[in-house]
Amino acid sequence: MSQNIESTLVENRRFPASESFIHNAQHSPEQIQALYEQAENDYEGFWKEQAEAKIDWSKPFSSVLSTERAPHFEWFNDGEVNVSYNCIDRHLEERAHQTAIIFEGERGDTRHITYKELHDEVCRFANALKVNGIQKGDRVVIYMPMIAHAVVAMQACARIGATHSVVFGGFSAEALRDRVADAGAKMIITADGGFRGGKTVRLKDAVDAALEGNPLSVEKVVVLKRTGDDIEMKEGRDVWWDEFEAGMSNYCDPVPVEAEHPLFILYTSGSTGKPKGVQHSSAGYLLGAITTMQWVFDVNPNKDVYWCTADVGWITGHTYVAYGPLAVGATQVIYEGVPMVPDAGRFWKVCEDHKVTTFYTAPTAIRALMKAGEQFPDQYDLSALRLLGTVGEPINPEAWMWYYEKIGASKCPIVDTWWQTETGANMIAPVPQTTDCKPGSCTRPLPGIDAIIVDEEGNEITTPNQGGYLVIRKPWPSMIRTVWNDDERFQNTYYPMFDGKYYLAGDNARKDEDGYFWIMGRTDDVLNVSGHRLGTMEIESALVAHEAVAEAAVVGMPHEVKGEAVLAFVICKGDRPEGEAADALVKELREWVSQQIGPIAKPDQIRFADNLPKTRSGKIMRRLLRSIGKGEEITSDISTLENPAIVAQLQGKA
Ligand code: PRX
Repeated sequence: MSQNIESTLVENRRFPASESFIHNAQHSPEQIQALYEQAENDYEGFWKEQAEAKIDWSKPFSSVLSTERAPHFEWFNDGEVNVSYNCIDRHLEERAHQTAIIFEGERGDTRHITYKELHDEVCRFANALKVNGIQKGDRVVIYMPMIAHAVVAMQACARIGATHSVVFGGFSAEALRDRVADAGAKMIITADGGFRGGKTVRLKDAVDAALEGNPLSVEKVVVLKRTGDDIEMKEGRDVWWDEFEAGMSNYCDPVPVEAEHPLFILYTSGSTGKPKGVQHSSAGYLLGAITTMQWVFDVNPNKDVYWCTADVGWITGHTYVAYGPLAVGATQVIYEGVPMVPDAGRFWKVCEDHKVTTFYTAPTAIRALMKAGEQFPDQYDLSALRLLGTVGEPINPEAWMWYYEKIGASKCPIVDTWWQTETGANMIAPVPQTTDCKPGSCTRPLPGIDAIIVDEEGNEITTPNQGGYLVIRKPWPSMIRTVWNDDERFQNTYYPMFDGKYYLAGDNARKDEDGYFWIMGRTDDVLNVSGHRLGTMEIESALVAHEAVAEAAVVGMPHEVKGEAVLAFVICKGDRPEGEAADALVKELREWVSQQIGPIAKPDQIRFADNLPKTRSGKIMRRLLRSIGKGEEITSDISTLENPAIVAQLQGKA
């Protein structure tokens, strides 16, 4: 698989942080350099020191890294901690009246919540959870709009040791049902709906559909009133948020939990089967959130206004909205909606209105906003910005430069952060004081992160620009602990090769002459559509569940704004549909996938064919389909296929 990619564009521009950025940063370049060196020389000692300094422990730990159950690595495992205490209570002496959250709804409603108010809200809700029988270790599914209450619900679970599983509000009832069932959740916390993209999303209807006729473990559904739309409340099962927490005390003891206690499960797509529940720990996860908030985002709790645009339904919304900013005592913006409502100036207006200093978003949003034109950012005062970030997919140099010049006024470093649901926190990213940025590169592994590139045998590739598997050699505190209820799947997915020596990220990458990492895309059948991770198999299963479909294969194709778009090849049970019948079926199948998974998984293009390209042993030639998706010329020998003539049809040429 190693490939030399000298032919690809080599991006050599370097952008060091400005003198003034470095001068105002929380750590000097020398201090950051010392962190890299300490981590290199004394790995465990480094993490021990970080954990002692940055977490308030309910019970101190003596063991740093335990490898007994490898590859289920354990960190600080005889210590005890409460994550909510670390995010809220410990700041109260100094920051009770500081704004923790500036919330802005898509329709313009705003709310400032201080750390004291957040504390009281979280405590009331946590008390209500307890009164309703939720105990340490119980699973609670949170299916909410992107509003401050979602963070309150997550923090309340953390406070009493309940394990939350947030399901993105854009997922369908079917997808929600699968996740609720897999997690064995006792409760669902939801809202009547949310405002998104100028519409209302009817969340409670989806919860009802997910629970219908299904003897799931859910005993109670807590419903926040957000849109005021008419919904049904099921007697005995459903309760309004306000009633649920009415009369509860503003104080709830934070329950100390073991460091390894599962703080949350978050479902993500893989290359096979159903989404897997990525299980995260409490202490190690918290440590990853804190260290990266400090190193990568350089957040100054006394000055910065931090805004990460991710939804809490994704890992970025966990680490960089619900936990990280609070754990370091920062003031953050939470915005409910999408960037284009009412127009492409919305993000920049939010930045101006709340004097945002630190802004973290996805390349797909930047590309869409760039396309809308510079007249939008030009209307707003963005001068408070001092640091920009991106996450979720590679950013093309053109979008990077636009972000740098138009949004950052050529004075803000851009931290391009590579990481995954499974890694818990940023892994490869610049610490701007010491690492110059290069457009399109996530730069260097952070202190204490041992990322390398290896070939198929597991040998480190040291030749510059030679691609290979991105792996993490040493375990790190915020790493995935297991796949919920499926240790075997955990091992097979993340430690399948190299004698279990390395964590396999599932990405291809190369390292340039300066040791900078360049992510080249996934090695598995996972698509990255608008920064959202989707398994091709998931979409295929949804398609074949439709009565008209006999077989389906899904691949990605390049897309200017989304990065990647979904292309589905579909073989029907009867004849291949043509003309109007084909158009009608395309529409139906897109709707169908939206219902089965969610609108984000809707195929952008569906091509009907008589068959799929198969080897003589009947295996679908996915590589060939991927090439067709990318519009590449087919140079490989297709004569060994059972049905070579099908290729032209799949390309749309016959
Ligand atoms: O392929 C990489 C891509 O997103 C994948 C992880 O997706 P997910 O678990 O949904 O988490 C996204 C947010 C952390 C990775 O395997 N990816 C993530 N960040 C970058 C990236 N690709 C290139 N550059 C990045 N900065």
